[in-house]
Amino acid sequence: MPLENLKPEVESIINQSSTKDEKLKSICELLESNIDYYNWVGFYFKNGDKNELKLGPYVGEPTDHIIIPFGKGICGQVAESNANFVVPDVKAQDNYIACSITVKAEIVIPIFVNGQNLGQIDIDSNTVDPFTKADEEFLEFVCAKVATIL
Ligand code: SME
Repeated sequence: MPLENLKPEVESIINQSSTKDEKLKSICELLESNIDYYNWVGFYFKNGDKNELKLGPYVGEPTDHIIIPFGKGICGQVAESNANFVVPDVKAQDNYIACSITVKAEIVIPIFVNGQNLGQIDIDSNTVDPFTKADEEFLEFVCAKVATIL
């Protein structure tokens, strides 16, 4: 399904009368089931006032990386850089936390609320170099919508 067609579905999940975590989980399910190269989809959020991320709702294989210190891995780097991070080939990254040997590529997009980087959406792909500017634009849209329910 084209990414553009998923935007109304994301909006409809945001507007549902369910809890924040149920909405986040539904967004993970929507993305993972409709985009064939999105194989693990999850949210990490700043853990209180600590300089670390904590895993939120996700879809895909369970991960050991529930807590990620700022600066560690792709996610921890995005917590500090406040910038999108697109990794076409995870093998080429030194500062990378492997979750599964099947993962070939990753994209992490930060979530801002009032200019503060409060979390991120993290997507792993089992395909090498699958992400384009269209994915970044779509995921920025998703993150902006998620920011409205945090
Ligand atoms: N690969 C990430 C860790 C999180 S997992 O992909 C679920 C990283 O390097 O930060």
